Amino acid sequence: MSEFVEKSLGVSDSSSVGKNNTNDGDIYKATFISTLVNVSDLAVHFPVKTREGRQFVRPVDEVSFTIGKGEVLALVGESGSGKTTIGRALVRILEPVSGCIEVVGRDVAHIRGSELKGYRNIAQMIFQDPFGSLNPVKTVERHLQFPLHKHTGTQGVALSERMNQLLDQVGLTPVAEMRQKYPHELSGGQRQRLAIARALAVQPKLIVADEPISMLDVSIRAGILKLMNQLRTEMGLSYLYITHDLASARYFGDRIMVLYGGRMMETARSDELIRHPMHPYTRLLLAATPGSPVTGPLPETSNQPPNLLEGRQGCPFAPRCPLVTQECHTAQPELRELDARHQVACHHA
Ligand SMILES: Nc1ncnc2c1ncn2[C@@H]1O[C@H](COP(=O)(O)OP(=O)(O)O)[C@@H](O)[C@H]1O
Ligand SMILES: [Mg+2]
Repeated sequence: MSEFVEKSLGVSDSSSVGKNNTNDGDIYKATFISTLVNVSDLAVHFPVKTREGRQFVRPVDEVSFTIGKGEVLALVGESGSGKTTIGRALVRILEPVSGCIEVVGRDVAHIRGSELKGYRNIAQMIFQDPFGSLNPVKTVERHLQFPLHKHTGTQGVALSERMNQLLDQVGLTPVAEMRQKYPHELSGGQRQRLAIARALAVQPKLIVADEPISMLDVSIRAGILKLMNQLRTEMGLSYLYITHDLASARYFGDRIMVLYGGRMMETARSDELIRHPMHPYTRLLLAATPGSPVTGPLPETSNQPPNLLEGRQGCPFAPRCPLVTQECHTAQPELRELDARHQVACHHA
């Protein structure tokens, strides 16, 4: 296990981020007793032009999950599986076509105007490319001034002090020097720290972190994850941590949810999922991860991308699945509970 995490993150497993994972189920339940996010049957669609005319792709199809207060849910899947679309729907950068997104007890799936503005103080998103999400002609302090002023109403000395506090909190020091820098004068890790500081300025309860370390050097990845974990402890933050990499999901996530073709394949506590992967797709992902406890390669029947068109039938993984039967092409497997904390959507797992 330690080799598994080390190889992908360049850290030793014993220096793991100190998350709330524990082998004691009761303690686990107690830790996340209160739910912050409750998403049910979420679906997003986009119109596309095809040879048959205008159709819809549905990259997120009836996905349900919860995130507890202070919990990290890791969302894992290969490129195109719908991870970013779920993240964008959760922070309401886009509106779902159906389903509920309950956050702090309120359904925000279709809110607009001032309600949506208010929701920005609860849910924030951090993107994969910190350079792309920062303004090249603004200094570090100008990136923070606006959200801080808007949220706290402070200005002058009070605003300046709050800014110093925030920069210190994300490790952008010495703060006086950092405040005057432009994004191009920062390293990749420092830019991501600034993006995190900007998200924190409004004191959110939930952060959607969309592959926040995948563009960073391996040597600084663990530092960013440690920072995010420290902020979770200090501020009681919850995260939807999006990644294509099971090792970092295991390292930072309390639970892992595996997505394929816009549908949830499997979800369990991180350790449990890595030790006892049940879905053929999870096993395939694990077999492809260096140092993983599951050895492969597993046979695949094709390397076709999944069909994302609205109205598709059966399991999206069926065309690639080594366990496929006729049923898989026609009947969509329901999410089955193996035990209270491990669910899988497969006819054969
Ligand atoms: N605005 C859009 N219009 C049409 N298709 C889209 C749009 N946004 C995303 N998609 C499609 O949705 C699928 C899932 O995308 P995405 O959520 O970005 O996946 P991931 O983050 O897992 O790589 C992809 O096939 C993508 O092409
Ligand atoms: Mg993405």
